[in-house]
Amino acid sequence: MSLWSPTSWREKPILQQPTYPNQAELAEVLEELKNYPPLVFAGEVRSLKSQLAEVANGNAFLLQGGDCAESFSEFRASNIRDTFKVLLQMAVVMTYAGGMPVVKVGRLGGQFAKPRSSDTETINGVTLDSYRGDIINGVDFTPEARIPDPKRMIKAYNQSAATQNLLRAFATGGLADLHQVHKWTLDFASQGEVSKKFEQLAQDIDRSLKFMEACGVSSRTYKTLRETDFFTSHEALLLPYEEAFTRRDSLTGDWFDTSAHMLWIGDRTRQVDGAHVEYLRGVGNPVGVKAGPSMDPDDLLRLCDALNPQNEAGRLNIIVRMGANKVAEGMPKLIRAIEREGKKVVWSCDPMHGNTIKSSNNYKTRPVDSVLTEMKQFFQVHKSEGTFGGGVHLEMTGKNVTECIGGSFIVTEEDLSSRYHTHCDPRLNADQALELAFLIADSLKEAKI
Ligand code: PEP
Ligand code: CO
Repeated sequence: MSLWSPTSWREKPILQQPTYPNQAELAEVLEELKNYPPLVFAGEVRSLKSQLAEVANGNAFLLQGGDCAESFSEFRASNIRDTFKVLLQMAVVMTYAGGMPVVKVGRLGGQFAKPRSSDTETINGVTLDSYRGDIINGVDFTPEARIPDPKRMIKAYNQSAATQNLLRAFATGGLADLHQVHKWTLDFASQGEVSKKFEQLAQDIDRSLKFMEACGVSSRTYKTLRETDFFTSHEALLLPYEEAFTRRDSLTGDWFDTSAHMLWIGDRTRQVDGAHVEYLRGVGNPVGVKAGPSMDPDDLLRLCDALNPQNEAGRLNIIVRMGANKVAEGMPKLIRAIEREGKKVVWSCDPMHGNTIKSSNNYKTRPVDSVLTEMKQFFQVHKSEGTFGGGVHLEMTGKNVTECIGGSFIVTEEDLSSRYHTHCDPRLNADQALELAFLIADSLKEAKI
């Protein structure tokens, strides 16, 4: 392997990048970003890696979720808080009903850049460059909005810093205290079956906490009852931005991407000789790789060698996103290759990206049924291969959106137009996400028996 540096990706073929019209302005912005403080610290990244090593060894579960794309216009404390609350609800369901510690990672605090299936978009005969996420260009369908603007990276950084600050406060400042479990339910939560199930579980937890308190174990005495670890992640797509945040840890001298704790490579940019793999192989963060139906077992092994040559548990996460009817055929051969070569990986399931359809009224949507089915099949395949399905990767929000159809509190095709807010892909709403959490908890419980 050739020598790695924070800029060595520039020598490799690269996909899915914007062409900035003003290169001098781009260079200026990148120089400025290089002086900005890191968003995360090496010690935190190491802590996430050791928690993910527990997942790789079958002793914990990874919950990764948040927006498909964060946006400048939806940037509000309440949105961040509500997504955080749903993630806490899901985690407590999996921990309490599933009996597994849960590692919580948000698709938050930097999830701005989007890969696109087409470079252009055509509406009513007009063709413009595609929207690539708020860190690159604007979502409005006008020629001006679609011009890549480097200054958007500065705005994205500032929004990420404020988001990270709020998340740290939520995680350690009282909201994540287990005694607050009833307050994690969102105001609009339906009175449906799932909410009732959660309320029941919250009451059980309350009773357990009272018992423990009587035995002298309380939030005052035990930090783990009052605080949680919450990490950030995004797709490391826009490499000039990631390069600017590539810093050496002052304690070890190792390189880290300090824009988030965990980074992943998308299904469209995972070429083993490409720029994205080159960049991520040199930083010490946990790294995810999406595996769609076209992932070949030999390619997957090559990716393991490139990204995790030391075969370190907790470093590499394979995020399988095949689609509900493709997992049973596509995943066993990947698992067998990994097992045969003794590679240590975290397997997680992204039940969103292989299940996107167009509704009859022309919305990009996902049937909750397909999401649940893919998740179930993921666990079934792992069970029959004797391996551990250790995580889930979701596009979800705490907002009461109508973007995915179905769920126990049924969203119909007609409902899609009522609260369809995503800038990119359709997300599960709080009810739908909780329903999935109960399904996961059941599977975890079963896997343990
Ligand atoms: C995503 O996670 O938003 C995404 C684009 O996924 P994939 O690379 O799997 O298509
Ligand atoms: Co998406």
